Amino acid sequence: MSTTNTTTSRGAHQHWSSRWAFILAATGSAVGLGNIWKFPYITGENGGGAFVLVYLLCIAAVGLPILMAEVLLGRKGGRSPIASMRELVKQHNASSGWISIGAIGTIAAFLILSFYSVIGGWAISYVGSSISGEFVGKDSDAIGGLFGAMLGNPTSLLFWHSVFMITVIFIVARGVKAGLEKAVTYLMPALFVLLVIMMIYAMTTSGFAQGASFLFTPDFSKLSTEGVLTALGHAFFTLSLGMGVMMAYGSYLDDNISIAKTSITVGLMDTVVALVAGLAIFPIVFANGMEPSSGPGLIFVSLPLAFGSMSLGSLIGTLFFTLLVFAALTSAISLLEPSVEWLEERSGFTRITATIFAGAAVWALGILSILSLNLWSDVHPLGMFAAFEGKTIFDLLDYLTANIMLPLAGLLAALYVGWIMKKEDVAAELAMDSTRFNLFWNTVRYITPVAVIIVFIYNLL
Ligand code: PHE
Repeated sequence: MSTTNTTTSRGAHQHWSSRWAFILAATGSAVGLGNIWKFPYITGENGGGAFVLVYLLCIAAVGLPILMAEVLLGRKGGRSPIASMRELVKQHNASSGWISIGAIGTIAAFLILSFYSVIGGWAISYVGSSISGEFVGKDSDAIGGLFGAMLGNPTSLLFWHSVFMITVIFIVARGVKAGLEKAVTYLMPALFVLLVIMMIYAMTTSGFAQGASFLFTPDFSKLSTEGVLTALGHAFFTLSLGMGVMMAYGSYLDDNISIAKTSITVGLMDTVVALVAGLAIFPIVFANGMEPSSGPGLIFVSLPLAFGSMSLGSLIGTLFFTLLVFAALTSAISLLEPSVEWLEERSGFTRITATIFAGAAVWALGILSILSLNLWSDVHPLGMFAAFEGKTIFDLLDYLTANIMLPLAGLLAALYVGWIMKKEDVAAELAMDSTRFNLFWNTVRYITPVAVIIVFIYNLL
């Protein structure tokens, strides 16, 4: 269990080389398809400004406290999420049931990656389509047709899914410093630059004022209860909570680095990217006379339509989809990490072997999601239960992870830190001034769990 190159006596294998390395990696995990694909379309579906405001509240009251709790648990445990929890329950004399925080998280990350990679593959294939000018001059039927044709073709989906997963395996196999850290040091700044270019472009379009006012002018009459719940659920997904990811990343974090400051920075950057992505996307949508509420197809159908009809469209489209690929990659590597860290510990495999095993298993599982988009689109495995009626394997994986596993693991993490650990220990680990600490302490004990439980119950009903 002893380590040579760390400042602690815990089991963690490697450490981030600096506070910024952790911040970039955690931001890389947080910033992903959730920010650039999902946030704009759910904002569009839920009427804009008021939804954005509620989402910001959810990030502050639920997202940040759970993010801090998970990083704290990971750092204190110093191992993979599962082994960390096993260690902590021993230290705290707690029930071994709490180990499920690590187990649910690791499994959820594994399952999510299997379909996340398929969507990452769509993004790569759209980079190719933009470069080759496939969107130019097409009308909405033709562009919708391209999207449909892509989903209907299992061979090409499999090809792009494989390209995506091989890249992920390649990065993760190289380890924390040479793999994860190096990838985020290049990809994250590139992503920010591309996003800013996109936003500047959007400012030059005639839809900018309308786009900005759509995002920032709250109109509460457009917000439903459902919208509030969507905002809270999205706060989880976008900060990569409840999947062991932030625990795994926390296990590589040195003791002298402030969990509160780093977590707040990660939360802020994630939020800024989501808002800037909105500012880049909605003006283009409005300038081209399209509806913001077109749902999941927003960036794969509406945007290509716009790119196909505007000047410099192929260039802007290529930039946009490249940005999406980068964002998806830095999230995907974090999704593989909990399984790899666990396999390394359990099996004694080298990092490379552990990554190949875990990655190959994810890749194979991804094939089910691919098939459920076409050949198996009528296969509804749990269709006999009303809640799962009409859901394909892809839908089920998404539903089970997002609505059940993530909130559950996140809730348990908050409860563990707030109710099982001693206040002094938590305070010592967080090293904040007492007013801020008390704010955190009360939030994590009361506000966060209550909010999650409400969403949880609502979702199950
Ligand atoms: N946070 C990522 C996003 O917004 C998704 C993700 C979830 C990544 C969980 C890693 C872990 O797209």
